[in-house]
Amino acid sequence: MTPALAEWFGAARARIDMALGDVFTQSWPQPFLGALNYPLTTGGKRIRPAISMAAWQAVTGGPIGDAPTAPGVAVELIHTYSLVHDDLPAMDDDAERRGRPTVHVQYDEATAILVGDALLTEAFTVLARSGHSPETIVSLVAGLAAAAGHRGMVGGQMGDILLGASVDTVQGLQDVHRRKTGALIRWSSVSGGQVAGAERAQLQALDVYGSAVGLAFQLADDVLDADEAEDPNGPPSYVRLMGIEETQRQAAALADKAIEAAQTLPHPEMLVALAQFTVQRDV
Ligand code: IPE
Ligand code: IPE
Ligand code: MG
Repeated sequence: MTPALAEWFGAARARIDMALGDVFTQSWPQPFLGALNYPLTTGGKRIRPAISMAAWQAVTGGPIGDAPTAPGVAVELIHTYSLVHDDLPAMDDDAERRGRPTVHVQYDEATAILVGDALLTEAFTVLARSGHSPETIVSLVAGLAAAAGHRGMVGGQMGDILLGASVDTVQGLQDVHRRKTGALIRWSSVSGGQVAGAERAQLQALDVYGSAVGLAFQLADDVLDADEAEDPNGPPSYVRLMGIEETQRQAAALADKAIEAAQTLPHPEMLVALAQFTVQRDV
């Protein structure tokens, strides 16, 4: 990460972490509160909120301290819920996430299901109460619901389960990933433009940016998990289908496509840096 991006990312993270800390300050029943906040306070790169805030800056040129946080908080709530449920015994059955016990291990399964449900629904409360114009709020709510639901992340998770090891083409893998991880990243980018009052062409550029970065993120993930591709019983991956060099080449090409789209906006610096980080990251 370049020093400029590290400094900017620190400021963006601080803003988003503070806003996330304000989401659940009380609960009924009261002992639920710790479980609700647990997965929100155990790390996470906050890449989706960062993309949303960078998209706002790309359109407005405003300082990061003024970037609206509601879309970033909402998408991080959805992302976090998806991870809490993804780790459940009925899904990936993972005991650790971000180096800490998963929610169902730290608490229990019923609590983890309900924490996920609460995070999911609260995302829409955050948007509804964001103070943006009614038209903007309706667009944000409709867009996030589509990106999170059966047309997006949930559909992608189901595709992953139903198709699983039978996915044996790059196109097949992309069909899953565009939904499973791509849809929320794409929405993150567009949402920043929506709260910036972007014009149609600018929203289209952010759409192209978010789609390309979303897919590049997944290719880069497979490069990071390249050792899994050597296991013949491991999950399908780009590295297994195309080899590590071709996967890296395509990730770089997608980042370039994202950067080209970002450069049509007035202040693209952080979007450009984030696209580069997505494919060069080691976490
Ligand atoms: C991990 O996402 C799971 C996927 C959706 C591929 P991130 O890499 O953004 O996870 P955190 O939030 O930083 O832990
Ligand atoms: C998690 O996907 C993605 C979502 C919850 C949408 P994976 O199962 O592939 O990622 P990890 O390995 O649990 O982070
Ligand atoms: Mg998983």
